[in-house]
Amino acid sequence: MSDGCAQIALFAGAAYFYRMTIRPILIHPDPRLKKRCPPVETISPEIVKLAEDMLETMYDAPGVGLAAPQVGVLARLFVMDCVKEEGAEPRPLVLINPEIVSTSEEVNTYEEGCLSIPDQYAEVTRPSRVVMRWTDLQGAPQQEEFDGLWATCAQHELDHLNGRLFIDHLGAIKRGMITRKMAKLKREQARG
Ligand code: NI
Repeated sequence: MSDGCAQIALFAGAAYFYRMTIRPILIHPDPRLKKRCPPVETISPEIVKLAEDMLETMYDAPGVGLAAPQVGVLARLFVMDCVKEEGAEPRPLVLINPEIVSTSEEVNTYEEGCLSIPDQYAEVTRPSRVVMRWTDLQGAPQQEEFDGLWATCAQHELDHLNGRLFIDHLGAIKRGMITRKMAKLKREQARG
């Protein structure tokens, strides 16, 4: 057993003592949302706690995806759950060091939003299917083809790990308008 696995096993035994925490979500514009995040080297107890907190934060918001830089942690990790049907089993996914294996030529346009850009929505066109590989929270390699909202969400969240927001897919005028609105919102929040 590698050191990484030993740490996870140890952590799993202690998991009941941890409380999930809702973390504050950074609002654009913020320099931390513009950075390319470095890979996760070890699935440490801190990373496990971060992933659990991110899921809790995402469900609370509510949202379908959340990337580590959105809670101020520069690490290649995001969470998502695009199950939207009322009463359906949730499917929380934690994707560590995610990579795109392939994308479809066929594209899809979705009206996207972002927890870091509240109440702003715009149409973004992306490949309609994407095969992604990543490491899960147990350290196991995973690969899956996503489509529909899952494909859009996975690409939107992966963008976050490269310092790219959905508004970076829009024209300069629309992006500028949204950024000014967000800057104003932050000034108002700062004043209380
Ligand atoms: Ni986002």
